[in-house]
Amino acid sequence: MMEMLKLLRLPRLIFKNSSKSVSYYITTPIFYVNSAPHIGHLHTVLLADALNVYQRLKLGTDETVFSTGTDEHGIKIQAAAHANGMSYREFCDINSEKFKALFKSYDTTITDFVRTSEERHSNAVRSIWQELNNRGFIYKCNYSGWYNVTDELFVSESLVTQKEIDGVTHHVDQNDNKLVWSSEENYMFKMDLVREEVLKWLLDSNPITPDKFREEVVKMIKDTRDISISRPRDRLEWGISVPNDPSQTVYVWLDALTNYLTVVGYPRPQDELLRWPVDCQVLGKDIIRFHAIYWPAFLVALSLPLPKKLVCHSHWLVDSLKMSKSRGNVVDPWEETRQLTTEGLRYYLIRCSTTHSDNEYSRTQALRRINSELADTYGNLLNRCCAPAINPRQVITKTFLTNALTPEIIHLVDQLRALASLCESHYEQADFYKGVDLIMSTLRYNNKLYEDYKPWKLVKEIDSNEESLRIYHNLQAITFETLRICSILLQPVIPKLSEQALSWLRCSNTRWQDAQVCPSLYESNQTETKLLKDTKSILFRRLNSV
Ligand code: MSP
Repeated sequence: MMEMLKLLRLPRLIFKNSSKSVSYYITTPIFYVNSAPHIGHLHTVLLADALNVYQRLKLGTDETVFSTGTDEHGIKIQAAAHANGMSYREFCDINSEKFKALFKSYDTTITDFVRTSEERHSNAVRSIWQELNNRGFIYKCNYSGWYNVTDELFVSESLVTQKEIDGVTHHVDQNDNKLVWSSEENYMFKMDLVREEVLKWLLDSNPITPDKFREEVVKMIKDTRDISISRPRDRLEWGISVPNDPSQTVYVWLDALTNYLTVVGYPRPQDELLRWPVDCQVLGKDIIRFHAIYWPAFLVALSLPLPKKLVCHSHWLVDSLKMSKSRGNVVDPWEETRQLTTEGLRYYLIRCSTTHSDNEYSRTQALRRINSELADTYGNLLNRCCAPAINPRQVITKTFLTNALTPEIIHLVDQLRALASLCESHYEQADFYKGVDLIMSTLRYNNKLYEDYKPWKLVKEIDSNEESLRIYHNLQAITFETLRICSILLQPVIPKLSEQALSWLRCSNTRWQDAQVCPSLYESNQTETKLLKDTKSILFRRLNSV
């Protein structure tokens, strides 16, 4: 464990006898290790990272927990290890490391990387099992049904059809996943005892963002029967065995979902957990059933409070189909990072995706967006106001000459005044694209003022022409203010670039509350400071298409 923390350079969180030892807890799903990570996985983590950075800015503290990890048990992993001629452990170690390395290369704010093969996790799973059993939620029965190995799920009879694939007739589910018939002894979880309470939570607390997914879940829960929570050991040997019954293995989803409690220190009592309930769980829409029905059902049975918020995102597509290992249409995140840079790819994934609808992955579109917004809009404005031809004394102008504010500059000040609260309302919903749209249009407006006012001409006249001096001076002052505010608000989306800009602009107050127009802009005492940027540095260099 210590070794892993060192690898990730994670701050070590100390368990305290108080649930208030951290201010926020956010999770991603843990990733199957049957293959290497793809762009879709990276997207889930970056979206959660953006939400965590945003919360840290708002709370004014880095004391948050952000967990991710790998889901290592199950028939799928078992089969993949066999196919690769490796032991389960060796196979999982190699693939888990790929996820860890990818996320590390993005310098995310992840504070814990949990693996379901760790002992702290199996302890948590066994404790949960025993607790559910003691509370009368588990019974054993003979269970028959169609099993979908890809999603590790029994499929309800009404969704099963037959289809010919490669000349052979298969039973398939609604997404054409092949199904296998299973008839076996299983332990079952009594869904009937908690269904009403979960439904009440869904309707009263409205935890799912965006709303459209809530309706689907409400329909689904009505059809959810008792849940099979174990598989015979002879079918699933790579997993946690059921306490007091070594002939059965804990079902992978009960095992995997428990990770969210492992991270905060379960089976400690609730008031000794790092933080519970979890504040925000990010997940893809393909696994909403497990997070919005199964997971709260288990928690209700354990008398633990339910998650405050589930942020459900849609999928990245390739040629209109979901990017997935089983379809073989995955985009390699390492290759894309080489072409687009970490900040560029992060920007594209967060800026050009919407939670409510699927998005087609396109490198051409990514390049266009990154170049036009990071290089030509944000970077360009910063380079312009610092360029020696426009700013020969290399200073940050901090006050207006108030008796000469043009209507355009007043309009820009008004935009800046509203920007933080508008972005806040969008970021809260994980609608980063809407917030970034507003920021980019503010930056474009400011760039347009540069073209209209031509400060490179004005600067030559400032000693002889009072009017030129005023326009030049106010344009520089508003531009530095625009860049300061926009950089603060862009931190969740492009943390490294915005941090670089803020340091050149000598801004040390970079919390969310600092993204307000500075009242001292209107002070009569002229103030300025020296820029920290050297004239050759460029915030973001245009990327070449390949
Ligand atoms: N192991 C389970 C989760 C258990 S959590 C208790 C699992 N793993 S996964 O590797 O298949 O998916 C992990 C996450 O990646 C999910 O949120 C999923 O939606 C996301 N993505 C997988 N493919 C994706 C796309 N093509 N696009 C966007 N996200 C995608 O499910």
